[in-house]
Amino acid sequence: VPAGVPAEAPQALDEPRVADDAPEAPVPAPQEAPSSVAPEPAQGDAQVPDAPVAVAEPEASAPEASAPEVSVPGAAEPGPAPSPAPEQPAPVQVEAAQPAPPEAQPAPEEAPHPQPDVQPAPQPAQGPQSLMDATMQQEQEQEQEEAAVVVADGTAEPVVAHAPATGAQEPAHVPAPVAQEPHPAQPVGQFLPVDGGQVPTTPHLAPTPPEAVLVPPEAAPEPEPVAAAPAAEEAVAPVPAPREADPELVQSVDDLDTRGADEDDHGAEETADATEAPAVDPASQEALAPQEAPHDGSSAGPAEAPQPVGPAAPAYDDAERAAVLKVMRERRDIRNGFRSDPIPHEVLLRVLEAAHTAPSVGHSQPWDFVVIRSADTRRAMHELATRQRDAYAKSLPKGRAKQFKELKIEAILDTPVNIVVTADPTRGGRHTLGRHTQPQMAPYSSALAVENLWLAARAEGLGVGWVSFFDEREMVRALGLPEHLDVVAYLCVGYVDEFPDEPELMQAGWSKRRPLSWVVHEETYGRRALPGEAPHDLLAETVAQIRPLDAKALGEAWERQKRMTKPAGALGMLEIISAQLSGLSRQCPPPIPEPAAVAVFAGDHGVHAQGVTPWPQEVTAQMVANFLGGGAVCNAFATQVGAEVCVVDVGVATDLPATPGLLPRKVRAGTSDMTTGTAMTREEAKQAIEVGIETARDLVAAGNKALLTGEMGIANTTASAALISVFTGADPAEVTGRGTGINDETLARKTEVVRRALELHQPDPADPIGVLAAIGGFEHAAMVGLLLGGAS
Ligand SMILES: Cc1cc2nc3c(=O)[nH]c(=O)nc-3n(C[C@H](O)[C@H](O)[C@H](O)COP(=O)(O)O)c2cc1C
Repeated sequence: VPAGVPAEAPQALDEPRVADDAPEAPVPAPQEAPSSVAPEPAQGDAQVPDAPVAVAEPEASAPEASAPEVSVPGAAEPGPAPSPAPEQPAPVQVEAAQPAPPEAQPAPEEAPHPQPDVQPAPQPAQGPQSLMDATMQQEQEQEQEEAAVVVADGTAEPVVAHAPATGAQEPAHVPAPVAQEPHPAQPVGQFLPVDGGQVPTTPHLAPTPPEAVLVPPEAAPEPEPVAAAPAAEEAVAPVPAPREADPELVQSVDDLDTRGADEDDHGAEETADATEAPAVDPASQEALAPQEAPHDGSSAGPAEAPQPVGPAAPAYDDAERAAVLKVMRERRDIRNGFRSDPIPHEVLLRVLEAAHTAPSVGHSQPWDFVVIRSADTRRAMHELATRQRDAYAKSLPKGRAKQFKELKIEAILDTPVNIVVTADPTRGGRHTLGRHTQPQMAPYSSALAVENLWLAARAEGLGVGWVSFFDEREMVRALGLPEHLDVVAYLCVGYVDEFPDEPELMQAGWSKRRPLSWVVHEETYGRRALPGEAPHDLLAETVAQIRPLDAKALGEAWERQKRMTKPAGALGMLEIISAQLSGLSRQCPPPIPEPAAVAVFAGDHGVHAQGVTPWPQEVTAQMVANFLGGGAVCNAFATQVGAEVCVVDVGVATDLPATPGLLPRKVRAGTSDMTTGTAMTREEAKQAIEVGIETARDLVAAGNKALLTGEMGIANTTASAALISVFTGADPAEVTGRGTGINDETLARKTEVVRRALELHQPDPADPIGVLAAIGGFEHAAMVGLLLGGAS
């Protein structure tokens, strides 16, 4: 993985990494996989566990299970020969056959490198292992990302087989630029010098890319209608390398903020500056104006637009507008600091009148407001909410649960008035205008009444806290509400000591505010542009925002370690990691980076047709179900460290059912066969990278402080080997591994496939997007994005 991953790993960096999910030490599968699907190797490759085996009991694989041979479509001359039948593994239950450990590395001579948890797999065939067991091991080396991004390496192939007993996992992916030999005098934990002159004098471990990173602009499929379109196809848009000296170029998630609606455009200008996206200078913008797409979204030219007659309706004057915007900005959800002071009737009346003036579908005004003051009723409601709160807490990963315990999520007993807002979906009869096609408009309308109420309450100095920890039917029964009503909101209302400046959840570190620029799209979804700005180039913008580690915090961390009562370097990688965490968080000592989230990217590969793996492509989708059901080893590790797991479908060949934890972000249903053409287009490669970037920033905005990643994609070690060969210059034979434990014949074919693809495309390592497009996978590209997004 590229990126300025500061790899200070003191290991030999010049050794090609073997793209192999070779078997790892047997790791008992953590829990039963939910799915009973049996990943079934399609082609005869020896080492695959044969019969269904309980996940919990790793079985030795049946090396020579004979099974029907699978024809390899596309494997034409001089392609792979159909695999010999004898190697065909028999059907395996998913629970049993946890896809094999992704990453065993048959690279005995790989540089040793502190690998904490990895247990060398001395013997060959390991029983079922999950794909992700290897994952975590690998990750251990990757944490050097700015956002504490960890790469769980991937394996893609489900079954472990006789893999050369290798030891441990791969050495960390260490970007070449930072490759350093360990200093002889200082074994581990030595700060590495960085060249490029952009990092201050303090020694540090993990510089962001020391050289400017070039992100070649994509050949635009069609001319950009908006001004300041990126340059010509061939041109390369240099993305300024991050420099501490250019604070304005840099934006970290912490800096992100939406602009108050009443604030001027200053913020937007800064955003525009911060991105390298084609700077738009007003003059040139004006010059280009005629080519701009109409901002009203219509295709009508000016000539067809209705001619204004007379002056437009007057806006509010400045003071009035400021007051409106102020109340919106200063409205807060309040749970703490309520007072018991009673609310005068006239005040509550004004608030309810404001609610009652809300817009509604077909003017159906579907709301009712049930005002509750009784302590008994509030106690009953409090009890119901507490039960749901406990249930939610139990559902959380440990990292989140810890945070959640500290949060107050309701003030039912602390407030003198509670208001239940309902929606009557039948009000107005069957022909209510606008509700025919979209019945949900009824509760939406009531939600607008809630917002009006909330704003009016703020203007009165009343705090409002929305409680959504109710089983709606339970509440309807407890309050004796008519059964046909939907409960839209339960609000706690009262005077407060103060209104916090920011959402309480933000103050508690539970979430971050997403900037406006992430959510405004021009004309088509994904073309993000604030009004008056050119569309953002997400990739270039992300790269430009990557900052070096904070040199001061890094230096302090290093100094602190020197003062500790231990031999220098005694804690190995931990010393490096802890210093990096200081640099990342800009504090020493650093906070524990939790909660954490694992994003597993999944995709299929056209090169599968070349017979590079015994496993059928469908296993990718089966394993996705396994991850989502909590049955993979990845889930076990995640549970152990309290991390959340999500799976991002960036290119799985089949349609995946909507499932909690699945992010449907398919670029295409599998890549094309890299031996016959490019795996994907440049545009698709970039799209997949952007999926990764967005995944990273969404997870961070949701409050995660550490990101881990991994992948799932049958046949993806073929693509990995090709990528590694291009970026390291190593011969395919050196970096093509046995994946899930393929036999010699299949390995030879796989190596040949890699070689042919490289010969066909001659990918240029200086053009990483081109390389990904030619021979990569959607999940590889998305992981690139996640790492960049995490670092930015
Ligand atoms: C539909 C909805 C349901 C909510 N439910 C709860 C809740 O059950 N408990 C809670 O503490 N806050 C709840 N909130 C408040 C949000 O957490 C809060 O609006 C958000 O953190 C932003 O903070 P702000 O409203 O102060 O800007 C809810 C808000 C909405 C809009």
